[in-house]
Amino acid sequence: MRSLIGTAIIAGLVLCPAAVGAAETVIRFSHVVSEETPKGQAALRFKQLVEQRLAGKVAVEVFPNGKLMDDEHVVRGLLDGTVQIAAPSLSLLEPYTKAYQVFDLPFLLGSTEAVERFEKSAAGEQLLSAMHGQGIEGLCFLHGGMKQLSADTPLRLPQDAKGKTFRIQPSSVLVAQFEALSAVPVKAPFTKVLHMLQSKGVNGQENTWSNIYSQEFYQAQPFITETNHGSLEYAFIVARDFWNAFPEDVRAGLTSAASEACAYGNSIAADLNAGDRRKIIQSGYTQVIELTPQQRAAWVAVMKPVWSQFEGDIGKDIMEAALAAAGAS
Ligand code: LMR
Repeated sequence: MRSLIGTAIIAGLVLCPAAVGAAETVIRFSHVVSEETPKGQAALRFKQLVEQRLAGKVAVEVFPNGKLMDDEHVVRGLLDGTVQIAAPSLSLLEPYTKAYQVFDLPFLLGSTEAVERFEKSAAGEQLLSAMHGQGIEGLCFLHGGMKQLSADTPLRLPQDAKGKTFRIQPSSVLVAQFEALSAVPVKAPFTKVLHMLQSKGVNGQENTWSNIYSQEFYQAQPFITETNHGSLEYAFIVARDFWNAFPEDVRAGLTSAASEACAYGNSIAADLNAGDRRKIIQSGYTQVIELTPQQRAAWVAVMKPVWSQFEGDIGKDIMEAALAAAGAS
């Protein structure tokens, strides 16, 4: 491990002395959201557990809010050693595996409970190693929450979105989802979204209550439609070579700290999102639109047909496991 630190320093990746302390290795954890979100909290829990259990051996520096890099670049960062652990949205991992597209299919995994059942199925667990061939390992899945649609005008029916521009994560499924609405998807990094909304560069976006609140998107969006049309899922990921270079006992400690941190994030995600929804309503900036069953059915009818474009690439086993998890809700 000392050689890894040496390599990092030689590469100019100077480690923060305060965080290094007496630790042999410092792990940089990069993410793009606020510390008040499920992911922000899970990252901090990972740091706390690691530094308690592996004191003197490993320390963790957490970089929230995209301070180190955008998640669009984080896989490359893991492979070149700029960063050692990350928890990107699975939507961003499409260049490495098509399997994760299943998480973006609109109105498939319709609740966090369904997502959880799917991730715990045999097919779901195998998905953690979907990037094995690229030198990346998944340690655990983490829930961001269900996505809502925000906009500068009220969206009650799918046709209300026609011709409007929406910022999206770079995912073919999300492109297809907005094109199905005859809307215009605009791919952009998360760190640019607030400015895009404030400057009216786009009309709207989709995200969790927690991200909409903590990034202040709601202050620039007078309407949020509570669609719960998809889930925002993450995975803690690491570069296999980096991870395997740890002595077995240290690696085991890190792996269990990651699992516990994800479990912690998952346990607070629903409450955090519900609390942020309440705060948005109380702020008075934004009207939250609840759909009637008929309105909701209209969104499902327009968006669900995009599944057929992606099912082949995702694979039969994964689709069947996701459908089974969704059906059990
Ligand atoms: C987004 O880009 O909208 C989200 O993926 C950000 C995140 O990591 O929650």
